[in-house]
Amino acid sequence: MKNKFFAFFAILLFISCSKNNIAQKNDPSKDVFIENLISQMTLDEKLGQMTLFTTDWESTGPTIRGGYEDDIKSGRCGALFNSHTVDFTTRLQKIAVEQSRLKIPLLFGYDVIHGYKTMFPIPLGEASSWDLKEMENSAYIMAKEAAASGLHWTFAPMVDISRDPRWGRVMEGSGEDTYLGSKIAEARVKGIQGNNFDKADRLIACVKHFAAYGAPAGGRDYNSVDMSDRVLRETYLPPYKAAIDAGALTVMTSFNDVDGVPASGSKYLLTDILRNEWKFDGFVVTDYTSINEMVSHGVAANETDAGILALNAGVDMDMQGAIFQEKIKAGLQDGRIKIAQIDASVRRILQIKKKIGLFEDPFKFSSKEREKETIMNDAHISASRSMAKKSIVLLKNNGILPIKKTVNQILVVRPLADDKENLIGAWSGSGEARHCVSLLSGLKQNPLAKNIVFNYVKACEIEGNDKSAFESVKNRISGADLVIVAIGESKDMSGEAASKAQIRIPGVQEELLKMIRAEGKPVVTIVMNGRPLILGDVKDNSDALIEAWWLGSQAGNAIADVLYGDYNPSGKLPISFPRHEGQIPVYYNHKSTGRPFDPTSKWNTKYLDMPNTPLFSFGYGLSYTSFKYDKPMVNKTNFSADEKLIASVNIKNIGDYDGEETIQLYIRDLVASVTRPVKELKAFKKEFLKKGESKTISFELNKEDFSFYNREMKWGTEPGEFDIFIGSDSDTQNAVRVTLINKNK
Ligand code: GLC
Repeated sequence: MKNKFFAFFAILLFISCSKNNIAQKNDPSKDVFIENLISQMTLDEKLGQMTLFTTDWESTGPTIRGGYEDDIKSGRCGALFNSHTVDFTTRLQKIAVEQSRLKIPLLFGYDVIHGYKTMFPIPLGEASSWDLKEMENSAYIMAKEAAASGLHWTFAPMVDISRDPRWGRVMEGSGEDTYLGSKIAEARVKGIQGNNFDKADRLIACVKHFAAYGAPAGGRDYNSVDMSDRVLRETYLPPYKAAIDAGALTVMTSFNDVDGVPASGSKYLLTDILRNEWKFDGFVVTDYTSINEMVSHGVAANETDAGILALNAGVDMDMQGAIFQEKIKAGLQDGRIKIAQIDASVRRILQIKKKIGLFEDPFKFSSKEREKETIMNDAHISASRSMAKKSIVLLKNNGILPIKKTVNQILVVRPLADDKENLIGAWSGSGEARHCVSLLSGLKQNPLAKNIVFNYVKACEIEGNDKSAFESVKNRISGADLVIVAIGESKDMSGEAASKAQIRIPGVQEELLKMIRAEGKPVVTIVMNGRPLILGDVKDNSDALIEAWWLGSQAGNAIADVLYGDYNPSGKLPISFPRHEGQIPVYYNHKSTGRPFDPTSKWNTKYLDMPNTPLFSFGYGLSYTSFKYDKPMVNKTNFSADEKLIASVNIKNIGDYDGEETIQLYIRDLVASVTRPVKELKAFKKEFLKKGESKTISFELNKEDFSFYNREMKWGTEPGEFDIFIGSDSDTQNAVRVTLINKNK
């Protein structure tokens, strides 16, 4: 049967190849093979290609639907998600290419977000590394493992900027900053998609959730998003564009409305911006039943109207809604939609199936042998440990880290007994906690632990008020030289539909830490979480404080590498940590206001009960060593927009350890036709310096770096003064002033 398939498509391919060159010369968008196929398709088969269903293997949304095998046979479903492994995808693909009328291969998608089987840190954790090459590599590894398991398409990278840690999906993105978020978006697309699909070791990327899903009112998932076009275009859109410029072949619409229009029905977003301005030529898939949800949004009276609204806005594929499949034909009868629109969507989808080689070989991604040799191999495990180490952020250290050689007795206190379940974080796809290295295991099995006796005590649960074990903890502290306490959230407390109005550490964990601290022994606190938490009291009750996020398969080994000093922590926060929920949104690149904060006077922008500043700022992270920055230098203090400005700094490692520093460059536009942020990240470099070593680090700035949307919403520069800051985090005041001149004057 398989040979008949190949014969069928070989003939079709041969015929079309000869005509192809002629057709493509006339109209490059017209591929004769695909046009031939479309010309043979019934309306139901066309709408089928525009239909994506989940299997019943997993549910990542409110509905699940059986009968997808019948849909495949009838050609009324062209793509499936939550379907992986070689066996399962092969079984479903055989139905498509042997039993359906036109034998069009299926596309298999899945949420491969931060690992397939080898789990990497949650994306917010990886973003803390600021290491673009390492993040590209981890994205490549997750794609390689998934592609070896029959998958073609991942719903990643998620690039939603967010300034609100109450929003549970902040764990899935790259934090609050547009520039860092754009660079990471680019790196992740390159890692996922690479340059070709020849070796079937890459996936189709799907940049999501378009657009501005990370700015819901109240930090509450799925809530309304309302902002000026200026903020939308300056802060929230660039990472999506960076992903598309990096070649992302698909885009996913978001659940939210933007300025009153749900993204899945927004012609402004999906056609005016995505197609006409950004020249995106892949296909647009909705998020889970988000077409149906336009009825709940109140912009469609029924699902047929919603489907027509979505198609006219620019949606090509309906995830799980079964609206394109069943409900929009009426629009053809009454003229609200045209068959040419449907053909255009089908064309985009078939072009991508052809691009990855499915028509030549629908089983190209399904190799039992490659699945076996790829999944969780040693190189991948090692890469996971490397990425995890770099994702760790040292928030406080009064000198007790790295663990001293004199320490022989360590008491390890965790809310959960030797927990592994949570280390894979939310959106862990097919990752398995059982493969994770727990904190305790990592500490014990590290070679540097050979003279250390570990005492381990279960203290309390992550949630709940049970303090009955506190006494047993107290009794064990006296014998310890050091106490390591790991506290935080469960993996289900962040992620989708997991917004929280309060973001302190849950349960009685803070009371536990306070009780331990009162015993007077040195305390290292490890926080494991998916979002910024309110850590003021935790910081005060710790001698050292580490932000460990959810670090994935190698969590315990990576944390141990840092605690023992095998790896000098280099992570920097990609998102501000508020002192209190009442400050949210709090972020570094805020506006000055007409009454900037002034501690000496009453009449200015402040809280009566709290500082304006976060507890930990964007870009903050300590090292076991110290780096001294000289004043920034520039190649010229007056420059015109078409000239490059070179900004440099001498930096010296003046501490006792070799280490990596992420040198950050920010600018401030002092006077412009609109209010501008007090700082904007425009460049960064991660540099390794041996202890005592000095380096001169240079950055090249160009016109784009000084451009913004002026009062008329025109993108460009205006002459005037700028401060260039170069330092270790967004609080740096280490600056030099330059003037952008208008050459024509
Ligand atoms: C979910 C998520 C989206 C995911 C999709 C498929 O609702 O919003 O990020 O890719 O459905 O699982």
